[in-house]
Amino acid sequence: MSAVSSRLPVFPWDRLEPYKARAVAHADGIVDLSVGTPVDSVPALIQQALVEAADSPGYPTVWGTVPLRNALTGWVEHRLGAVDVAPTNVLPVVGSKELVAWLPTQLGLGPGDRVGYPQLAYPTYEVGARLCGATPVVYDDPTELDPTDLKLLWLNSPSNPSGRVLAKDELTRIVAWAREHGVLIFSDECYLELGWEAEPVSVLHPDVCGGGYEGLVAVHSLSKRSNLAGYRAAFIAGDAAVLGELLQIRKHGGMMIPAPVQAAMIAALGDDTHVTEQRARYAARRAVLRTALEGHGFRIEHSEASLYLWATRDEPCWGTVAHLAELGILVAPGDFYGTAGERFVRVALTATDERVEAAVKRLG
Ligand SMILES: Cc1ncc(COP(=O)(O)O)c(C=O)c1O
Repeated sequence: MSAVSSRLPVFPWDRLEPYKARAVAHADGIVDLSVGTPVDSVPALIQQALVEAADSPGYPTVWGTVPLRNALTGWVEHRLGAVDVAPTNVLPVVGSKELVAWLPTQLGLGPGDRVGYPQLAYPTYEVGARLCGATPVVYDDPTELDPTDLKLLWLNSPSNPSGRVLAKDELTRIVAWAREHGVLIFSDECYLELGWEAEPVSVLHPDVCGGGYEGLVAVHSLSKRSNLAGYRAAFIAGDAAVLGELLQIRKHGGMMIPAPVQAAMIAALGDDTHVTEQRARYAARRAVLRTALEGHGFRIEHSEASLYLWATRDEPCWGTVAHLAELGILVAPGDFYGTAGERFVRVALTATDERVEAAVKRLG
């Protein structure tokens, strides 16, 4: 038996354990800014929708309830500015990590096919390519890639880890290139609601896609905007032919979102107030952390959006991780996201105000 896991990279977070142990030993406890996992409560109206749907004895559908599809099409039009979005242009998924990891397999990709993603990237794009035996290729500018056998191109704006945002004209140029060469784009936009010094734009915006969705799919998640990482709630939107094919496969594979979570998603997508409140929490944490890091000798690059500050002391990232661990602060080394990140660390904004305040004091 050939172990599929042998195709995969070493799970990087295990390497951080000794530094975590050092940070935990700090007299005032660890400030964990390593993982971008939400710490604030699930908004009450979403919890309530989940509870009200608790009596759900039957199987849910993979495509979602009609009210969920309507909530998704409505949100994509209202928030992304997309036009004429039909129910065939949306598909709920069980958290976007699941989609990212299994998409190349579900698209039927395999040996000989190439999957492109940014040179600094969320590690699961590579994992997805390797799971199906395709070849992962990284890019600085995707239009410089050889389009031969390039079957899937990942975009990620705002970016994890760097917080970089692709401007509208850059997106438009990339979309035109991909269409010219018949390359399918999946654009991971899960941080779209978290723009600080830039206003992130979706590939589904008519200025970028021309009002049609051929060859384009946007990936959205409720994990960050609505603190729903624990619910597993995400969706994709775009090319109906691609989504229709994925729906068939996912139906056979049983990849359905639990009915109470579908109800919770409807509540979450119908409310902007909690998103504004959560944004304000992150903005405040970001401002104090940024000032404290800069005062401590860090330089911040990009970071104009997302849940992260991309910071460097112009030294190898593990040296920075060790230095901060001595202060009881745990961050993610930049090389987790590609060799281009080996002199950076990623500082997440996902800690309570009390813990962020503790970090600021220690950096002062
Ligand atoms: C770029 C990116 N895509 C996808 C995900 C997965 O999010 P989820 O599975 O919670 O929807 C993450 C999580 O951190 C991410 O950073």
